[in-house]
Order: sequence, then C-alpha cells, then structure tokens
Amino acid sequence: MAQESVSTKMESREKAAPKGKKLRVAIIGCGGIAQSHMSTYRNDVPEAEIVAGVDILQEPLDRMETKWGLPKEALFKDWKVMLREVKPDAVDVCTPNHVHCAPVVDACNAGCHAMVEKPMAMNAKECEKMIAAAERAGVKLSVGFQQRYTHSTEAIIEARNNGQFGDILFAKIHAIRRRGIPNWGVFGRKDLQGGGPLIDIGVHMIEAAYEVMGCPKPVAASGNTWTYLGNTDSKTRCGNFGWDWKTYTVEDLAVGQIRFDNGAIMQIETSFASHMQNCTNYEIVGTKGGCSWSPCEIHTDLNNTMVNITPAYLGPQNDNHPFKRKLRNWVEGCLYGTELESSGYDGLNVQKMLDGIYRSAAAGKEVAIK
Ligand SMILES: NC(=O)c1ccc[n+]([C@@H]2O[C@H](COP(=O)([O-])OP(=O)(O)OC[C@H]3O[C@@H](n4cnc5c(N)ncnc54)[C@H](O)[C@@H]3O)[C@@H](O)[C@H]2O)c1
Repeated sequence: MAQESVSTKMESREKAAPKGKKLRVAIIGCGGIAQSHMSTYRNDVPEAEIVAGVDILQEPLDRMETKWGLPKEALFKDWKVMLREVKPDAVDVCTPNHVHCAPVVDACNAGCHAMVEKPMAMNAKECEKMIAAAERAGVKLSVGFQQRYTHSTEAIIEARNNGQFGDILFAKIHAIRRRGIPNWGVFGRKDLQGGGPLIDIGVHMIEAAYEVMGCPKPVAASGNTWTYLGNTDSKTRCGNFGWDWKTYTVEDLAVGQIRFDNGAIMQIETSFASHMQNCTNYEIVGTKGGCSWSPCEIHTDLNNTMVNITPAYLGPQNDNHPFKRKLRNWVEGCLYGTELESSGYDGLNVQKMLDGIYRSAAAGKEVAIK
C-alpha cells in the first residue's frame, strides 16, 4: 500500500538505479503477454538480462529465438530443467493462471525471485503457498498488476494523499465488454483460468481501485455469475469472433460487492459478453470528493460550487509507462532490496475478493472473507 507520493517514490528509485548490475531473468510462458514483457525489458529495463525462455509449445520458443535473439540452448520445455541448468536470479511467470503457483514455488525453492502475471493464481490458497515459498527463501515476489501505474491512477493517488477525497466510502468497478470473449489461449476454461471476466479483466480495475482505497481488509463478499452466451454457437457479428464455445465454462457476467473492515464497499460489474456498452473504469467516492479513472476526473466542491477537475496533462500517451513501472519496480526490488509496490500480499487480498464473489455465487448468499 503506497501512501506516499507516487511520483516522489518513482524519482528516488530512478536515481537509485546503479549502473552495470544485471538481474538474470528467465521467462516462463512465452505467449502473448510475454511479448510485452520482452519489449519492456529490452527498451526500458536495462538492469534485466533475459537468460532463458520456457514454454511447452515449440512456436513460442522459436519466436524467443527469432524475434528476441535468445540462443537455442537458452530455450526449454520444462521450467524445472531450466532452473537446474540456467540457475537464473529470477523468473517472470507469464503462463495461464493454472500454471502460476507451481513455477513460482519451484523458483522460490531454487532461490529465485519471482514476478507472476495477474491474477496471482487460481485462488487464495495458491497465493498463500507462493508467499510462504518466497518468505522461506527470502526472495522478492511481485504480482504483475499494472493499472496502479497508469498516469491516471498515479494522479488519483496523489489527490488521495493530499486529502482530496476525505474518507473513501465506496468504489465502483466496471470491466464490461459487450462482446469480447478472448479467442486465444485458455480464457474460456474455468479449470485452467479459475474464472472468466471477473478474474481476467475485472481484476485490473479491482486492484487499482483497491490501491486507491488504501487497501482496507476485505471481510465479506456477495455476488452472482451467469453463463448464457459464451457456451453457445453464437452467430452475432463481433470483433473477437471464433472463441471455443464448446469448452467455454467460465462466466459471461459477474456482479458483486465487497465489504471492508472500515465499512467501505466496492461494487463490481464485469463481463466478457453482456448486453451493455463497453466500459473499463473505476470510480471512487469519498466524504470530500470523488473521481473517475477513465476519463480521469476529480469531482468535488469548490467555492460553493460542484466542480469536475479534468487534468490538462497526465503524461505522454502510449509510453508503456505501466509495464515499465511494474517491471522496473520488481527488478530494482530484486537487485537492490527496495520495497515492492505490488507484493504477494496485494495479490492475495485481491484474490480473496475474487474467491469471495465466486463462493458467494455458488452459495447464493453473502460469504465471509477471512
Ligand atoms: N497484465 C496484463 O495486461 C495481461 C494481459 C494478458 C494476459 N495476462 C496474463 O498473462 C498470463 C498469460 O496470458 P497470455 O495472454 O500471454 O496467454 P497465452 O496463451 O498467449 O500465453 C501463455 C503461454 O504459456 C505457455 N504455457 C502453458 N503451460 C505452460 C507450462 N506448463 N510451462 C511453460 N509454458 C506454458 C503456453 O504455451 C503459452 O505460450 C495469464 O495469467 C493472463 O491473465 C496479463
């Protein structure tokens, strides 16, 4: 939970980065998101040297060779073999959700630091195993959340730190796709991903809003999930056509509410497919002001007038700021022992909320979060 000024922390880290020292990182899972990690390491994180790639498929491994120049002997089909032969300093885990826990635990047991893509794991139990392994080994474990590092969230956190919102009472999460079921990977498989839009895209807005709220303890969840479209041979025209509807077992729509120990509430709406307009946003409501993330706007009272404050400039667009910040923060944490902004505990708390909504949906009533 970063309460101090984000930009101040960022500047001090950038200044602290020493020259010449490299973190030897192995990528586990060389598919879609690994490409963003690779280009970020190469362009923005010179302190990291990519020393190995692991994937069960040949095509992603070939791309690590042809696109990113890794030698054949640095490519592996099994992370256990790679850990033994390469002995990297750290692993960056970019596999589907059901393959997050095991490689992180194995890597920590081998003395490696670990970054794991979002969501942290399939469920909170797995997150606890990962945290325990990292703590036993004394290594850094970070979760690849990046919406907290957007220019918009950074401005909102500065506003919060300056007391602009007063006490935060309520957050509203939207991660709504009218028709946007992923047609690659295993995103439609509950057994391999743990869930659908809630765990896949809702998690982004949930973690950013949770960070803005100051990370209160979640104590109860209530919600429901529905599957009615992704598992049918729909003929409706849409951009992401061609998902595997026969193996689709995740929810199309998840709606829920989290209650926190300070009385605050987070309301969550997420969908891969629902008859609603696309919307990706979080809104925060406090005693003195509120805000919306996209477009970034602060709502407050000024001179006895209700005003909306719109930033005139937040930062360069398309500058890869969030990925750069998330990977740099972890790499610097591993190299120099600096504090992680997105730790395993952040991942665990977010996962408890996701688990809570799914458990409540199954139970048909509000459930406690412990
Ligand atoms: N931060 C973000 O914005 C963002 C965006 C997309 C995906 N993700 C996350 O990244 C993860 C991967 O998503 P993706 O879109 O890259 O999926 P993907 O299917 O494109 O890539 C996953 C890769 O992992 C490989 N893999 C599967 N099992 C493996 C194993 N046992 N050992 C080694 N490799 C294995 C697959 O062959 C594939 O190449 C997911 O957890 C997803 O939630 C994050």
